[in-house]
This record gives sequence, C-alpha cells and structure tokens, in this order.
Amino acid sequence: MTEPFLVARNIAKRFGALTALANVDLEIRSGEVLALLGDNGAGKSTFIKILAGAHPPSGGELVIEGNPVAFHSPKDAAASGIATIFQELALSENLSIAENVFLGRELKRSILGIPFLKRKEMRQRVDGLLKELDAHISDPEAPVGSLSGGQRQAVAICRALNLNARLVIMDEPTAALAVAETRKVLALTRRLAARGCAVVLISHNISEVFEVADRIVVFRRGRKVAERLAADTDHEEVVSLITGAHPDVRALEKTN
Ligand SMILES: Nc1ncnc2c1ncn2[C@@H]1O[C@H](COP(=O)(O)OP(=O)(O)OP(=O)(O)O)[C@@H](O)[C@H]1O
Ligand SMILES: [Mg+2]
Repeated sequence: MTEPFLVARNIAKRFGALTALANVDLEIRSGEVLALLGDNGAGKSTFIKILAGAHPPSGGELVIEGNPVAFHSPKDAAASGIATIFQELALSENLSIAENVFLGRELKRSILGIPFLKRKEMRQRVDGLLKELDAHISDPEAPVGSLSGGQRQAVAICRALNLNARLVIMDEPTAALAVAETRKVLALTRRLAARGCAVVLISHNISEVFEVADRIVVFRRGRKVAERLAADTDHEEVVSLITGAHPDVRALEKTN
C-alpha cells in the first residue's frame, strides 16, 4: 500500500465550551474517493474546514506526504495542493468560464512593461481540462452566469485541476442538483480519482456514496465512529452507523 497523501492525527476542535471534533484519526489516499458521512452537526464540515485551512485545529496534527503542516489560511492549504469546493461555489457570475478557472493566477505576458493576458493560452488550457473531464461545455468564453448547477461544479473542478490540486474536497456537491447533473458530477468525482487525485466527498445521499466511494468514514457527535471499505459494507449498515444503532457504535459510545 502506498503512503497516504494526508494523515490527520488526533484532531480536535473546540468552539468555546462545544467540542465539535475529538480524537479524529484519518488517512486520505491518492486515487481514492473517501466519503465522509454523519448526521447534521456530526463535525464533517468542521473537519474539512481544518483540512482547507479555514479553521485551525484545537489539537492534533496534519501530515502531508510525511511532513507535518500547519495551515494559517486557505492559501496555505492551497499551496499544499488542497482545493475545496464548497456548496456555495464562489464563482464569479459575470466572468467567463476561462476567467473563473484562472481567477487570481492569470497567465500574463509583458509588452513594454505593460501586462497583457494570454487569453488564447488560457482558453486552450481550459478547453483541454473541460474535454478531459468530459464536461460537455463547448465555449470557455461563456459567462458562468449562463451555466447550470452541474456545469458550475465542472468549472469549479477545472479550477481545482488547474491549481494542480492533489486533494479535492467536495462538501455536498450534488445537494442542489437534478438527476442528470448529479450523474455528471459523480462521474467527474471518479475521474478526479482516476487522475491520481485524492477526493473527499461529503454527502447525505448514501446511494450516491456507494456509487463513487472507495472508503466510507462515519462521524458521530464529533468522533470518527467507523471506517469501512465500500465493498465490505452496505446501505443498511451505514445507516445504523450514522444513527448509532450499530453495536460497534453503541459499544464505543458506552466507553466514552
Ligand atoms: N464557527 C462555529 N462556531 C461555533 N460552533 C460551530 C461552528 N462551526 C460549527 N459549529 C458546531 O460544531 C458542530 C459540528 O458542525 P459541522 O458544521 O461540522 O457539522 P456537519 O457534520 O457538517 O453537519 P451538516 O450535515 O448539518 O452539514 C455543530 O454542533 C455546530 O453547531
Ligand atoms: Mg456540513
């Protein structure tokens, strides 16, 4: 087995008196889709915000490819190859697809000291990424405001790829999507993993999780209560792990 891309050790997060996360150990591997499941308030978003550099942990450590890291901002996490796609995508409606993909890292050339955008190169690069993702978007010059929800997810994924992300985290990417769009986003998720990216997917849709995930981790009340290979579990067991009815979870919660 290869070394994991990221190891989280004993991660804790407290908000004042509230313990949102305690003792979370997790390994995230390249080429693998890891689904993070759990009830509302279980700590999933808090955990990925720590991975994304949006919250500092109250305890524990993150190790990337063997090196301990401390993120002080989302920029630090991005520099370590971590891209997070939040449900509210944060794309700029009135910019084109290509402009969104390159936002903040535009390719420029300087003529007589005056910077000019390399529009053609950027368009070609985005065209290539969209084709690679099989995103069915024909015109990278189209404004993002004209795209559907699934197409926007595709643009956000392109953006992550363009940043050479090694880990792409998606917090409920399909929650607001119709059936066909959901299918496309799930296919994109698999394609990211096939490219060697590590993918963390948060979803409340268990059927969808079984379609794409290699591994399933369940959080409950701020703790990791279970980890299974998707191939070794089923819908029913996962539900009982989430609700706490599963004997393993009961035993664990008795000792805590
Ligand atoms: N910034 C914050 N300040 C105080 N408490 C917070 C903050 N963010 C999260 N919490 C609390 O931490 C706990 C975990 O919240 P979190 O958002 O991680 O849950 P979640 O598993 O993502 O739930 P959902 O499925 O509803 O999105 C909750 O009790 C929540 O109220
Ligand atoms: Mg959440």
